[in-house]
Amino acid sequence: MEKKLYYSNYLELTKILEAQHPESFRLNQPAHDEMLFIIVHQVYELWFKQILFELEFVCNVFKKEKIDDNSEDLNLIRHRLHRVVRILELLNQQVGLMDTMTPLDFLEFRNLLTPSSGFQSLQFRLVETKLGLSMDTRYQKDYYKRTNEGGFTTEDFEKINQTETEQSLLQLINSWLERMPFFEHEFWRDYHKPADEMHPFWSDYRRIYKSGLTEREIANINYFDLLFFENRNTLSDEQVELNKTSLSREAMRAALFIMLYRDFPVFQTSYQVLDSLVEIDHQMAGWRHKHLVMVRRMIGMRTGTGGTSGSGYLEGALTKHNVFRDIESLSTFLIERKKLPGLPEQLIKKLSYNVV
Ligand code: HEM
Repeated sequence: MEKKLYYSNYLELTKILEAQHPESFRLNQPAHDEMLFIIVHQVYELWFKQILFELEFVCNVFKKEKIDDNSEDLNLIRHRLHRVVRILELLNQQVGLMDTMTPLDFLEFRNLLTPSSGFQSLQFRLVETKLGLSMDTRYQKDYYKRTNEGGFTTEDFEKINQTETEQSLLQLINSWLERMPFFEHEFWRDYHKPADEMHPFWSDYRRIYKSGLTEREIANINYFDLLFFENRNTLSDEQVELNKTSLSREAMRAALFIMLYRDFPVFQTSYQVLDSLVEIDHQMAGWRHKHLVMVRRMIGMRTGTGGTSGSGYLEGALTKHNVFRDIESLSTFLIERKKLPGLPEQLIKKLSYNVV
C-alpha cells in the first residue's frame, strides 16, 4: 500500500527544526538572542534558495534560441521576476526583527562567531552573480578573493567563479533586447524620410527630446548620443568612461522604445519585465541600506566578523552593487506621452497578438 504523506515528513521538519545550535549554548554561556540570530539567517537562506530557483527558471527561458514575446514564456518570466520582488520585500521587512536585539545582547555572543559572517553567504553571492554583478565591478573586490579566514571556502569560491562564467540575467536581457525587431527597415518604409542619416524614428525622437530640455539640461543631448548611438560629441574621456553601460547601444534603444510605448498592449509584458528588474535592484539596495543601518547600530565602527572594514564596506557595496542601473537611467531620456511619434501600422501589426 502506498505510504500516506505526513506533514512533518513531507517538509522534513525534523531536519530543519534540529538545525539550530547556538555556540553560546554549546559553550554553556547561553545568550538568549543567539537563537533569533540563527533562525533569522536560516530563514534568509531558505528565501535565497527560492530566489535562485526562480532566477534559474527565468535565465533558462531567456536562453532559448527564440522566445515569442506574446507567448506564455514572457508572461512566466514576468510572473516569476515579480515573485522575486515580493520575496525581497519580505526580506527587507525581516531586518526589523534583528533590531529587537540590542547591541549589548549581541555582544554576549558576537565574539564566538568570528571569523564567520554573512559576507560568506554563498547563496547571496550567487543571487548577485546570476543577476549580473561581476567580480570586476564589485566594491573592494580583493575581499572576494580570500579563501583564508573570513573569506570563502575554496569550494564556494569556485562555485561563485563558475557561476560568473555562465550567462547572467543582465547578459540575457541584453541579447533579448537586441533581438527586438522594432527598427527593421520594412516597418518604417512609409514613415517620412529624415533630414539626417539617422533611423527615421530616432531622428524625430532626438529632435523632440532636445527641444524639451531646459537650459540646464541641454548637455543631456550629448549623453543621449553617447548612450544610444556611441557618438561622444564633445564629451571628455572621463565623461565617456563614467557613462559606460553594461547594455549595448541596440539594447538601450530597444529598452527605451519599450518604456516609451508601454501603454500599447503589445509592449506591456516586456515593460513589466524591465520594471521588475529595476525593482529587484531597488529592493536589494533597500535591504543593503537597512542591513547597514542595523549593523551601525549593532557594532558602530568596529570591523566585521568577516574581516571587512564593517559599515565602510557595506556602504561601498550599497552604492556600487546595482546591476540594472542602465535600465533605471532611461528615465532621463523620456519625453511626454503626447509628443511621442505615432507608430507605423506595419510595426503594430507585426507585434500585435492578432497577427496571422
Ligand atoms: C546582528 C546582526 C548582524 C550584524 C552585526 C551583521 C554584520 C555584518 C557585517 C559587519 C558585514 C560585513 C562583512 C564582515 O566583515 O563581516 C555583513 C555582511 C553581510 N551580512 Fe550581515 N550582519 C547581521 C545580520 C545579518 C543577517 C540577518 C543577514 C541575513 C542573511 C546578513 C547577511 C549579510 C550579507 C549577505 C552580507 C554581505 C553583504 C554584501 O557584501 O553586500 N547579516 N554583516
